[in-house]
Amino acid sequence: MVRRDDYLQRLAAVPLFADLDRHELEAVAEVGTDVDVEENRELVRQGDPASEAFLVLDGTAVATRDGEELATFGPGDFFGEMALLVHGHRSATVTATSPMSVRAFHKSEFDSLLDRSPKVAVKILRTTAVRLLNAEESPRH
Ligand code: CMP
Repeated sequence: MVRRDDYLQRLAAVPLFADLDRHELEAVAEVGTDVDVEENRELVRQGDPASEAFLVLDGTAVATRDGEELATFGPGDFFGEMALLVHGHRSATVTATSPMSVRAFHKSEFDSLLDRSPKVAVKILRTTAVRLLNAEESPRH
């Protein structure tokens, strides 16, 4: 478990939260649950219904769709947002490629994060748009 002050510092270093002031960061630190993940564990599985989004604190993961690699994630990256944004199912499988520490945000926490901070919401939506554009630009054969 990361100590609160350490966690606030780590949050401030995450690009997603870089524009937030101390008060806003403290609000973000209130939500979410730290989870330690073993290497090779699937954090989300393509096609499953979704209830959480994840922020990577430590370690790395890979997103695959139908067995093909889409992207890799490291500290400061988030994933699992797409299914929550559209009330859908997981678009890809995300697997830990090292031991990981992640912060899991339940859907209600993710929604309140977006409601509380338009800056965070815009960054998440921008990143998601880029992910979708990149996926379109590199169609699978
Ligand atoms: P979600 O669909 O909830 O679960 C799988 C996650 O993988 C997805 O949210 C995104 O966070 C991530 N993901 C899916 N497709 C891509 C992509 N093309 N590039 C980067 N990340 C992706």
